[in-house]
Amino acid sequence: MPVRPSLILGIETSCDETAAAVVESGKSVLSSVVASQTNLHAEYGGVVPELASRAHAECILPVVRRALAEAGVRLDALHAVAVGHRPGLIGALVVGVSAAKALAWSLSVPLIGADHVHAHLYAGDLGASQETEFPAVGLVVSGGHTSLYLLKSWTELTRLGATIDDAMGEAFDKGAAILGLPFPGGPSLDALAAGPGADDRALDFPVSRLAPTSLDFSFSGLKTSLLYAVRGLPGRGGVFERDHRSLSDARRADLAASFQRAAVRAAILKLERALDQAGSISPGVKTILAGGGVTANSRLRRELAELAARRGMALRLPEARFCVDNAAMIAGLGFHLLGAGPPSPLDLRAVPTAAC
Ligand code: KG4
Ligand code: ZN
Repeated sequence: MPVRPSLILGIETSCDETAAAVVESGKSVLSSVVASQTNLHAEYGGVVPELASRAHAECILPVVRRALAEAGVRLDALHAVAVGHRPGLIGALVVGVSAAKALAWSLSVPLIGADHVHAHLYAGDLGASQETEFPAVGLVVSGGHTSLYLLKSWTELTRLGATIDDAMGEAFDKGAAILGLPFPGGPSLDALAAGPGADDRALDFPVSRLAPTSLDFSFSGLKTSLLYAVRGLPGRGGVFERDHRSLSDARRADLAASFQRAAVRAAILKLERALDQAGSISPGVKTILAGGGVTANSRLRRELAELAARRGMALRLPEARFCVDNAAMIAGLGFHLLGAGPPSPLDLRAVPTAAC
């Protein structure tokens, strides 16, 4: 059997997905297993950190075993173990980091700590037939993060801006809850907004611009506008006169489509600003990278493709299964981190905040 160079096992447990993947040379995904905890958290309308940690502890070894089996790779064939060690829920991260350390130590292979947000930027490169050209401008839109980056390579990045309040995915989830849609809210709202007859111009929701050159985001005003559109203005003691049960199906779909239009507009507007400004820091930006759960959104995907075409730039947009949390993006980025610097020490810590 030919020797496989750079077979990396990736592990991801930062929030509510227990994931493991085997990726070859940073590109070729041999397996990607994700055990989702969506049903576990659904009745609470959001992720309960302690429940998430316990479920990770139960699932991590079966998920790693399955990823190896699906890839047809034995443990002793691995060249390195990469793990998302920041940012995320601390108790959840600790499970993946402990498993990765134990595996790397027992196999005597390098351990690679990867930043989860950084890995979302990499997800669009998985399976790509051509090399990504740099400099690139990257947009991460997920449930916990909304940020813009300038990248000179896969391992050299500068943050250009970030949300000052809600993340874009969080705004979708809260917007969906206001509309009475099922958890997880983002995909539910997307499906309703994309349905036949939904009018995205029914309401002119605000698109936050902040200062004229700002590359930061704000989604709280949009969320409040939707709240008032659904419930009316609050009366004495902050009590609303109605809730989503008074909405007709047609009105609910119109509100979802109008909300989605405004949210996507805000993301595209800041990305366009970043592309304009990045040229003066690092001339000749060639590629747009986008990643994170919200890049699964049908409207955002369409508008990103239109923007890239308008600007004559390449677009790296992950396939649907790599938009949301997964371990293939961790293993893929791990390949480049290992090529660019020393491995992580075996006392690598789980850290709740992002490095970038
Ligand atoms: O990247 P991810 O899996 O987890 C974090 O790192 O946060 O992103 C999850 C987020 C959730 O807020 C979810 O509602 C959102 O991505 N999301 C979507 C769609 N699919 C997932 N938001 C809008 N439209 C979608 N189709
Ligand atoms: Zn994520």
